[in-house]
Amino acid sequence: PRKNLTTSNHLRHVESMAHLPSGAGRITRLNALILGDALASEEDDLVFPSEVLSTQAHVSSPQKYLEMYQRSVHDPSGFWSDIASEFYWREKWGQQVYHENFDVRKGKIKIEWFKGGMTNICYNCLDRNIESGKGDKTAIYWEGNEPGLDSSMTYNQLLARVCQLANYLKDVGVHKGDAVVIYLPMLMELPIAMLACARIGAIHSVVFAGFSAESLAQRIIDCRPKVVITCNAVRRGSKIIYLKEIVDSALLESAQKGIVTDVCLTYENESAMKKEMTKWTKGRDIWWQDVILKYPVTCDVEWVDAEDPLFLLYTSGSTGKPKGVLHTTGGYMVYTATTFKYAFDYKPTDIYWCTADCGWITGHSYVTYGPLLNGATVVVFEGAPNYPDVGRCWDIVDKYKVSIFYTAPTLVRSLMREGDEHVSRYSRKSLRVLGSVGEPINPSAWRWFFNVIGDARCPISDTWWQTETGGFMITPLPGAWPQKPGSATFPFFGVQPVIVDEKGVEIEGECSGYLCVKSSWPGAFRTLHGDHERYETTYFSAFPGYYFSGDGCSRDKDGYYWLTGRVDDVINVSGHRIGTAEVESALVSHPQCAEAAVVGVEHEVKGQGIYAFVTIVEGVPYSDDLRKSLVMVVRNQRLTRYIGHQVFQRREVGK
Ligand code: WTA
Repeated sequence: PRKNLTTSNHLRHVESMAHLPSGAGRITRLNALILGDALASEEDDLVFPSEVLSTQAHVSSPQKYLEMYQRSVHDPSGFWSDIASEFYWREKWGQQVYHENFDVRKGKIKIEWFKGGMTNICYNCLDRNIESGKGDKTAIYWEGNEPGLDSSMTYNQLLARVCQLANYLKDVGVHKGDAVVIYLPMLMELPIAMLACARIGAIHSVVFAGFSAESLAQRIIDCRPKVVITCNAVRRGSKIIYLKEIVDSALLESAQKGIVTDVCLTYENESAMKKEMTKWTKGRDIWWQDVILKYPVTCDVEWVDAEDPLFLLYTSGSTGKPKGVLHTTGGYMVYTATTFKYAFDYKPTDIYWCTADCGWITGHSYVTYGPLLNGATVVVFEGAPNYPDVGRCWDIVDKYKVSIFYTAPTLVRSLMREGDEHVSRYSRKSLRVLGSVGEPINPSAWRWFFNVIGDARCPISDTWWQTETGGFMITPLPGAWPQKPGSATFPFFGVQPVIVDEKGVEIEGECSGYLCVKSSWPGAFRTLHGDHERYETTYFSAFPGYYFSGDGCSRDKDGYYWLTGRVDDVINVSGHRIGTAEVESALVSHPQCAEAAVVGVEHEVKGQGIYAFVTIVEGVPYSDDLRKSLVMVVRNQRLTRYIGHQVFQRREVGK
């Protein structure tokens, strides 16, 4: 049974806000503040949605939110089954909509939603939308690294491409429950590959195509895929990255540890590298273009239980070994679709662009699944946001008439320091709603995003969530209530956040402490691959009875939540999670490094930077070259090629 609900502070506040008038006029108050009204504190700074946006929104007022929120936490079964019924289920779930044990003291942690229901997320993304008349709607606009290189695909075409790949995978022996590793850049083939796996019940594990060969090998060894899908190379900005070579070394390394992958399906990314130039292992490597087109464009769906695994995504923890976060099908499907719809106030006419890579959870939930489940048109961008110049994002926004733009504070801050003129030369009038994710957005970056990018017209959904949560947990709903720059506002439907002190005691009202959640939500991860014990100790043991997020948080007098960053051994650099232990173990593998201790330091643009204290082996003199080689060992061994210089390439290479 659910814990008794105390009417938490935020609800009381939303209740008291219910009488507030809305209207665009109120936005000027923010401008007054920016112009120097020093009397109000940051927390008091309210930004109201425009009347038009509000009245047309799915959730148009604090009362409406309150009604829906109350139902979602008092009657989760009713609330979520009503929503789940909008999807296609081959068989309906059993009597019990969800089952949870959230308390380690009561036994094994267990979360289940819609158990017994048979469905398929690929079917719900594609076939279901096509059947309801969206077949000719554009599913994906693809924008290449080089301006002018682009293409697009309708829902019908996407389904055909997914089915061809799904048929191929079946043909080479991939069955329900088998793992497939995907190491691809942001080509259309990346979401295609994810959906093809889902269609046949295979578990995809996308590895960000910027991770090193060692990191890739580590993941391959952990999940033992039947097939690895990659491409030969990719252009990012002015650089070419030879992905196939990285895969070759990862496959060699994993084979040495006894994990042999039979098939390496390689897409020829012609704009970056010709086939003929690519190193090839006969018998194992297969060109995508040589085989896939021969397969039928229809493919039967594998109906899976709502609790069958959908994907594994590795994320950094406080020890050296990455954690394989496991998400299952039904709850994740319902949750990503619903959060997408409400947090971005999605309408069928919207054009949506999320700048995240599918190698991260944001790309899983809010490039691929959430939007496609809603039948949305999604922009997929291969390149770097500062190439060929720092106006590229707005060029893309104008080109595709993007109405919802979702990005990370680090990008906002990096563009902010380039100056407004790179923004104002573009129209951006299609923009309606903005979004932020990955790290706390500081109020000054929030204001610049709001005023300069969104012309003081577009609410910002500052979505707090994690790889583990599957979807948004604390997020504004654009039309529902006034925002405060830098606050993620209130919890999403069904989410019961609590702030606890160091003893694990819940604190009420205005306070600061550790952010926990006290009951399950459909999108929650179910375990860590192969290590349920680590799942329980990492997330459920610090504060028994709660899921512990690893984040610090405060709640202001009005009930708004303000995320303050990680409180564990995880650093957040440009929105990317990095375990200090991962960096330390890379450093000590350097022959001249005896000991290392790593901490996060504040960084103006990246949010946090990595600071390493290193003890050098006795007798070795310190030199700048040694420092550089220590940096390189970290970069090559553990981290991504892009981290730290992804969006700052021009200025920060070598730092
Ligand atoms: C941080 C990314 C403040 C937080 C979706 C969390 C945020 C970690 C926000 C998860 C936000 C994410 N405000 N902090 N809006 N969004 N974070 O797993 O520290 O890559 O624990 O998921 O990012 O990172 P992950």
